[in-house]
Amino acid sequence: KRKIILDCDPGHDDAVAILLAGISEKIDLLGIVSVAGNSYVENTTRNALILTEMGKINVPVFQGSAKPLIRDQIVAPDIHGESGLEGANLPLPTKKVEEKNYLEFMAEKVKENPGKITFVAVGPLTNIAKFALNYPELVSQVEELVIMGGGIEFGNVKPRAEFNIYADPEAAQIVFNAGFNLTVFPLDVTHQAKIHMNEIKEMQKFSSEIVSKMGILLEFFHQTYYDVFKIEGAPLHDPCTIAYLIKPELFEFKEYYAQVEVKGELTYGETVVDYWQFEKPNSKWALKVNREEFIKLLFEELKKY
Ligand code: BDR
Ligand code: CA
Repeated sequence: KRKIILDCDPGHDDAVAILLAGISEKIDLLGIVSVAGNSYVENTTRNALILTEMGKINVPVFQGSAKPLIRDQIVAPDIHGESGLEGANLPLPTKKVEEKNYLEFMAEKVKENPGKITFVAVGPLTNIAKFALNYPELVSQVEELVIMGGGIEFGNVKPRAEFNIYADPEAAQIVFNAGFNLTVFPLDVTHQAKIHMNEIKEMQKFSSEIVSKMGILLEFFHQTYYDVFKIEGAPLHDPCTIAYLIKPELFEFKEYYAQVEVKGELTYGETVVDYWQFEKPNSKWALKVNREEFIKLLFEELKKY
C-alpha cells in the first residue's frame, strides 16, 4: 500500500482523484490538503469536505494556501464553475476542516515514515513549495512527489502554459529544483485520458450516491471542455496520478530535465522540457496512457462504493 497525502483544488477531475484514492486497496490515503486553484481555497476546502463525507472516506482535510507565492491569483470558473465543483447540487458538509496546520501535518507524517510517504499534488504547487522551503531536510525523505501539471507540446491557459503551473509558476520552479523524486503527468498524457459521454452516462447509473453525482458533475465538466476547447471527451487529468500509483503499467514514461519559465513574456508558466536529453534528467514524465484500461480501472474501483 502506498501512503499518500493528496494536495488538491477540487475541481471536477480532482474530485475523481479523491474518490479513486479513497477506495483503492493499493492506496492508504492519510489526508487531503486543499489549495486555491480551480476556485478560492474556501471553496476547494468545502468541496474536499463534502466529497469525503459523501464518499465515507474517513480522512482528515486540511486547508492549505489561499494565494500563490508571488503572482496575482487566478481561478478557473470557465471550466469548473464558480464553486469549483458546479453541475450538481451538493449539500453543505457537516464534516469539519482540521485545525492543525497543513505543513506540520505533512512534516509529521514524513518524519514518522521516512521514505514511505508519497505526495500527490494536482493543483497549483504553492503548498508543496512551502513544504520544501520550510523543511528542506525532509524533501529527500518523501518517497515520491507525483504531480499533474505542465505540458511538453501545448498549454491550456496560455499557448505554452498549463493551469496548475501557470497559477503559481514561482512555486512550481521551487518544486522542480527542490530535489524531490519527481514524476509529472503533463497535458500531453492527460489529454489521452479522456472520459466520453457514454461512459459518463454509465457512471450516472452507479448505485452509490456519490459516484452517480460524480457522473452528473462530469457532464458539466464535459460541456465546459467542449465550450472552451471544442473537444469531445473530458480529460481526467488529476486521476492519472492516482491510477499510476495503483497500476503503473497503464503509462509510458521518459526522464527529462525540466524547468519552469518565470520570466518569459509569452511563456510565463511554461514547463521547459529538455526533449533531446542534453542535461541530466531531474524528473520522470508520463507520455502515454492506455485509455481503455485506465477507464476500466476507474470503473472497477468506483463500483466498490
Ligand atoms: C489542471 O487544472 C485544473 O483545472 C484541473 O483540476 C487539473 O488539475 C489541468 O490543467
Ligand atoms: Ca486540479
